[in-house]
Amino acid sequence: MNSMMITVYILLGAGAVCIGSQAPLAAADLLIPATHRAPGQTPVQRGKKVYEQTCMPCHQVDASGVPGMNPPLRKSPYVGGHSARLIGIVLQGLNDGVEIAGDTYSNPMPAFSTVLKDGEIADVLSYLRSHFGNKAGPISLAQVSRIRQILKNK
Ligand code: HEC
Repeated sequence: MNSMMITVYILLGAGAVCIGSQAPLAAADLLIPATHRAPGQTPVQRGKKVYEQTCMPCHQVDASGVPGMNPPLRKSPYVGGHSARLIGIVLQGLNDGVEIAGDTYSNPMPAFSTVLKDGEIADVLSYLRSHFGNKAGPISLAQVSRIRQILKNK
């Protein structure tokens, strides 16, 4: 064995240690290129990521909002209510002066139609509708696409 081969073995060994020190990878993960892997496995897991990256700065980690400014998504009649209205809020934003449980909120919410894909909106809303005290069914990608189309033609 020459010294070059030994170096290669040492480098490979170091690589294995690196991989080993991260979160355990399933054998299947190693077969799928990282770029092709979905960030989460279920819609709800993906939706949690979208929530944390996009909605949490305003609606907060526990979805309880900020008094007088950003309304709660916890036990929200909007989140648990009609799917078309809910999808429309995320696509178009909202500046209506929301009132929830006797409290009013005055900040405007920006539109996310160019920020989030239909699948990401379906995922985040499915996550919200099954968490934070909300109990409503999931939202599908097809529902979001349909509402986007309707709002575009208005
Ligand atoms: C820049 C801050 C901000 C971000 C980011 C934001 N919102 Fe909002 N959101 C608001 C504000 C402010 C209102 C209330 C607007 C009004 O009073 O008309 C609101 C209202 C809502 C409502 C209706 C009222 C309620 O409390 O249920 C929903 C549903 C909602 N947002 C969902 C989302 C989702 C989902 C995301 C992430 C994709 C998001 N928001 C990102 C600020 C934000």
